[in-house]
Amino acid sequence: MYTGTDDFQMVYTNIMGVFKNAGISSVIKEDLDDAIDHGVMVMKTVRLLCEALELSDGFKQSILLAAGLHDVGKLQLSHVLYGRKKEALHVDEMRYMRMHAANGRDMLRGCGYPEGVLEAVYHHHENYDGSGYPDNLAGTKIPLSSRIIKVCDLFCALVSERPYRAAFEFDTAVEMMIEDSKDLDMGIFLEFLKIYHSEKFEEIRQYAEYANAKKHYLHGVESVVI
Ligand SMILES: [Fe+2]
Ligand SMILES: [Fe+2]
Repeated sequence: MYTGTDDFQMVYTNIMGVFKNAGISSVIKEDLDDAIDHGVMVMKTVRLLCEALELSDGFKQSILLAAGLHDVGKLQLSHVLYGRKKEALHVDEMRYMRMHAANGRDMLRGCGYPEGVLEAVYHHHENYDGSGYPDNLAGTKIPLSSRIIKVCDLFCALVSERPYRAAFEFDTAVEMMIEDSKDLDMGIFLEFLKIYHSEKFEEIRQYAEYANAKKHYLHGVESVVI
């Protein structure tokens, strides 16, 4: 379990350790690259939010691990679900995809990660109004760590290039989040918006540009960068 300060190293080393422990010997490289970039971006955003919320160092260490590894369960499904580059998922595949929260938790448990990390990963797709998964938890029944990751994960997903759609502009992503704010803890989302409008967010903007530029190349998506 690497808990150092280099974000890429932290996500990469931990994902590889989880794979080894789970006996996963191969994964589609592009999926792995995307998962690492996404984990790093969510981790960076979560860190800014935790600092703004003045959360304890112990909590931060746990949630940063969870942020970097929250989608590790998806990679176990990589050969079934990924490898596709142009289409959104079908309904049955979507059901399968939803297993990634529990899969990720179980993989991390097998490696001896702390309970706080397992809990944060398992609940990162719960919605504040109770419409999420896996347990339809609502409000503050959802762990704080998962509510924080939820806001950051949603934003990072929207502004990232996907095989089946282009990345949304930052402001468009925020507007979409406002429209779907019933899914989010409003107190945390408002804190996120404060950071979003601060200079600190430049780090996230630059990382998104860096990660998306790699994907334009990988996926052959036509894009003009000015
Ligand atoms: Fe996820
Ligand atoms: Fe995610």
